[in-house]
Amino acid sequence: MYYPLAKSLMFQLDPEKAHDLIIDSFKRTGNTPLNLLYKQNIAAKPVSLMGLEFPNPVGLAAGLDKNGECIDAFAAMGFGFVEVGTVTPRAQSGNDKPRIFRLVEAEGLINRMGFNNKGIDYLIEQVKQSSFNGILGINIGKNFDTPVEHGKDDYLIGMEKAFEHASYIAVNISSPNTPGLRNLQYGEALEDLLKDLTLKKDQLSEQYNKHVPLLIKIAPDLEDNEIEQISDALIRYKLDGVIATNTTLDRQLVKAMKHGQEAGGLSGRPLQNKSTVVISKLYKHLGDTVPIIGVGGIDSAIAAKEKIEAGAKLVQLYSGFIYKGPGLIKKVARVF
Ligand SMILES: Cc1cc2nc3c(=O)[nH]c(=O)nc-3n(C[C@H](O)[C@H](O)[C@H](O)COP(=O)(O)O)c2cc1C
Repeated sequence: MYYPLAKSLMFQLDPEKAHDLIIDSFKRTGNTPLNLLYKQNIAAKPVSLMGLEFPNPVGLAAGLDKNGECIDAFAAMGFGFVEVGTVTPRAQSGNDKPRIFRLVEAEGLINRMGFNNKGIDYLIEQVKQSSFNGILGINIGKNFDTPVEHGKDDYLIGMEKAFEHASYIAVNISSPNTPGLRNLQYGEALEDLLKDLTLKKDQLSEQYNKHVPLLIKIAPDLEDNEIEQISDALIRYKLDGVIATNTTLDRQLVKAMKHGQEAGGLSGRPLQNKSTVVISKLYKHLGDTVPIIGVGGIDSAIAAKEKIEAGAKLVQLYSGFIYKGPGLIKKVARVF
């Protein structure tokens, strides 16, 4: 109800300033009666997947609450699951500002944040302080100054620290803003990573006597044979799920627009079709063996339906949520 007004005020500010302001107000109000400003009831649409019970299949995508500071606020809005992060072992400030751009006419965003975050210990503290007992994903990454060949070590640290506190762990190997990160999606680097992560998962499952699904998050900028190879590896290493997709480097649909040539990852409506195509191709290889969480440009019930028809079992929102507000959660949940 209040969103159009809030949006028109926020869109007058620099995108990152607006983001910080919103995060700060959600952080302050999430667990107080003031959350009535955005609290909503979403009709129960339970989904059983990966050994977890999702109250509804609409989740918050990674990157909006990188430090896990607003979990209660996003839960109050009715998200069926909340993914926090990407978080790295050590705090880091990310790339120079400005690093987020609105492509208003396309309802898109370009960002080159570079995993700015306060580090995993801080995030875990926030998780402990929240009163959320729903499904929480913790999305882990590597520090920018950890050489890619040692990237695995950062993910192992992330897993070790997140395991006890997460409902699932998402391994982000698809951000375009950490040099070399996307190389972990291919060939031996992927095999090597999945082998060690799944071993670690088994060890931690035993240690904590807890099932925590392990997912990877992939880019939309993949060739058909790369999608096939990733799918094979996901099946072989028995990953619990795959999140498709992250932002794109493709500028075809926005090159003539203001900010259309900024460096970084493009999200929102210009990504919608591209990510749906990746989901279809993944589903062709995976069938129902490894569930797909669909994300990329979902800004309406129809866009969500396309993701489901392509093979996604759950969906996540980010840019559409910025442009349309919390009401989008309700609209999308109705599709299921
Ligand atoms: C400003 C911004 C920051 C993001 N940060 C992250 C991140 O830290 N980790 C991650 O896995 N994805 C990140 N994403 C990607 C989103 O989670 C999502 O995969 C992508 O934006 C596509 O969905 P959308 O079109 O609904 O935004 C970010 C996206 C945006 C716009």
